[in-house]
Amino acid sequence: MALPCVAHAQAGIRSLTPYQPGKPIEELQRELGLADVIKLASNENPLGASPKARAAVQAALAGLHLYPDGSGFRLKQLLAERLAVSANQVTLGNGSNEILELLARVFLGLGRAALFSEYAFAVYPLATQAVGADSRLAPAHSTDHDMPLGHDLAAFQALLDEQVRLIFIANPNNPTGTWLSPAEIGTFLAAVPEDIVVVLDEAYYEYMDDAQRPDSLGLLERFSNLVITRTFSKIHGLAALRVGYAISHPEIADLLNRARQPFNNNSLALAAAEAALGDVAHIEASVRNNCEGLRQLRAGLAEMELHYLPSQANFLSINLGRPAGPVYDALLRQGVITRPLASYAMPNYLRVTVGTQAENTRFLDALRRCL
Ligand SMILES: Cc1ncc(COP(=O)(O)O)c(C=O)c1O
Repeated sequence: MALPCVAHAQAGIRSLTPYQPGKPIEELQRELGLADVIKLASNENPLGASPKARAAVQAALAGLHLYPDGSGFRLKQLLAERLAVSANQVTLGNGSNEILELLARVFLGLGRAALFSEYAFAVYPLATQAVGADSRLAPAHSTDHDMPLGHDLAAFQALLDEQVRLIFIANPNNPTGTWLSPAEIGTFLAAVPEDIVVVLDEAYYEYMDDAQRPDSLGLLERFSNLVITRTFSKIHGLAALRVGYAISHPEIADLLNRARQPFNNNSLALAAAEAALGDVAHIEASVRNNCEGLRQLRAGLAEMELHYLPSQANFLSINLGRPAGPVYDALLRQGVITRPLASYAMPNYLRVTVGTQAENTRFLDALRRCL
């Protein structure tokens, strides 16, 4: 029987279905008694963390008894220098996930709505619902479009009204990997009223080809309602430490900072992120591994005559042409963790993160056996 107080919990929270993370390696080892497991389920960096970040974490252990710098001063300075913005335009989050939630808390609430695409990142509806706001779903491009299942910004525009206060655009998007051209983004921003906040979620920005990568920081100078979010979880390989950031107009950064809890980034995470930013060799190696890995996966999938969505990120979403759940289970039994996309209403799709060359080979061999 439910506790009496539970009935009085916020309706948005009571009806939430929690985010389902990728299966952890240890869980699969425990469940199936497997020793050798690889995880290609959460778009992590297969090369691991930047070595410079690891050394910085070791050094920061001496200060575990002290509260971290609640303003993240040094990291914000470094980001500001790197991105040629002012430090007062940068907001640090416990992962970019926290920034997305802060944006929902600051700009949404009962009677308001967030707008995002069908097949968009799962955190957008969760963050929206948690603050009692409505989600508006813009239908995605059809499967025969050049950018199948990608964001259709004309459909976004058709859904704008006074309720919509926040627009989430993941570029590239997870779980599809699809992206928007720089021109499409610029045209869309020019059409959105300036009192609606547009979030450009660039968690996979660094993986994009130069020709496809928008000059989003340049757009920030033209559009004061634009918020760019990025993360240390992917290209820098620091997913465990939870560091993300937003770049925005200083007035929006000020609002986000008010809503943020005082020590949302721990000191190990801050030290690691500062060091990772300067580890150009690791960033370049990660980009290279991803390009080669995408090529390897695409070639292997083509041999199996499997279709996949276009991707500018560090993963591919494969259309198996039949329910992906049983294939996901069969891969688990071979010690390979991927992500079935039924929870995204894409039941025939399986998402696989680009791994090392050996991991990609193991995935392709296992998939061949399953099929
Ligand atoms: C599109 C997108 N945005 C944001 C995030 C959140 O990442 P983090 O909270 O680790 O920065 C993810 C994580 O997978 C993502 O795919």
